[in-house]
Amino acid sequence: MYHTHLAHLIWKDFLKPGMTCIDATAGNGNDTLFLAKCVLTPNSGWVHAFDIQADAIITTQERLTSLPLPLQKRITLHEASHETFPPNISPSLIVYNLGYLPGGDLDKTTLSESTLKSCENAIRILSHGGLLSITIYPGHPEGLREKSTLLGWIESLSDLQIFHHTPINRPNQPSLIMIRKY
Ligand SMILES: C[S@@+](CC[C@H](N)C(=O)[O-])C[C@H]1O[C@@H](n2cnc3c(N)ncnc32)[C@H](O)[C@@H]1O
Repeated sequence: MYHTHLAHLIWKDFLKPGMTCIDATAGNGNDTLFLAKCVLTPNSGWVHAFDIQADAIITTQERLTSLPLPLQKRITLHEASHETFPPNISPSLIVYNLGYLPGGDLDKTTLSESTLKSCENAIRILSHGGLLSITIYPGHPEGLREKSTLLGWIESLSDLQIFHHTPINRPNQPSLIMIRKY
């Protein structure tokens, strides 16, 4: 099963209206829009989305105009690295779709060191029962480093529930990590 489809199925099953989520890598805004549809009502829920590229933030903003205005007002777009999240929030779900923008600048890819720092922080701020979702693309050199760094890290997280969905006969295909915090 295709990794992004699987991720969306799991998010949809897990999320309830009124929850707060973070999209750590907004890109073209597809995931931000999906999360917004799952959790936002006119007076509850919040979505934060991050990207270091102004173009990605603009594309995401445009994509979100398909939502009713009261829902759009419950989304904060941050043109910033995911290494720093807003203070005093405890999201139910934090998602990473790592790598670079399809068709975009390959130099603007996520990097293993800052991804690891951000994921460690994500675990800290997640609500109890919350979920961290990470899609990894090891088909390019930095993606391969991210996969190795993240797999090394999750081995040390003995008190959390961790799932890794990966094609066992295609090592460079995308894979999906889900971490549940209890
Ligand atoms: C694969 S794309 C994300 C796709 C997106 N989730 C979607 O639905 O279209 C990865 C994105 O991560 C962004 N990125 C790279 N480093 C980042 C960082 N340190 N913090 C936040 N975003 C970053 C890139 O600019 C790129 O837009």
